[in-house]
Amino acid sequence: MKPILVVANTPSKNSLVLRNAVQIGIEDCDYPVIIKPPLETTAADVLSCGGIIIGTTENFGYMSGQIKDFFERIYYPCLEETQALPWALYIKAGLDGTGATKSVEKIVVGLKWKPIQGPLLLKGEFQEKFTEECQTLGSGMAEGLKLGIF
Ligand SMILES: Cc1cc2nc3c(=O)[nH]c(=O)nc-3n(C[C@H](O)[C@H](O)[C@H](O)COP(=O)(O)O)c2cc1C
Repeated sequence: MKPILVVANTPSKNSLVLRNAVQIGIEDCDYPVIIKPPLETTAADVLSCGGIIIGTTENFGYMSGQIKDFFERIYYPCLEETQALPWALYIKAGLDGTGATKSVEKIVVGLKWKPIQGPLLLKGEFQEKFTEECQTLGSGMAEGLKLGIF
């Protein structure tokens, strides 16, 4: 089983809780997972994963700078090799999140990755259900990969 790669910036306690929840969801399914900070994630990591989950905060109406840096480094090395890679996105925003969502989706359309579900947008006051939704996101990808439906 090729691991699920989780690439998420975690500038705050809440954003770290969410990334950990994704990890727990995957591990609960006994599926291999690689967690890497965006600035340490390389094209080789993407080329060797079986699915990818991107997590970003919305900053200034866009994806976080760390996630943008990640895409800038991996885009061309991965462009021809990772088409149809199963992927999912969660966004942690203050009150909005649409700009971050669109900015990531636009790049991923170019990469031709295959979405396993729509974007998971988590905004407003932090709620416990955000954690549950991130855990479900992780387990959903893991189960789908196990069953070969993605
Ligand atoms: C520099 C900066 C810019 C931000 N810009 C936005 C924004 O454009 N839209 C938004 O909804 N939230 C924005 N936020 C809020 C962050 O998305 C939020 O702090 C992040 O999701 C972490 O959530 P937390 O504070 O609940 O831990 C911004 C935060 C920072 C530090």
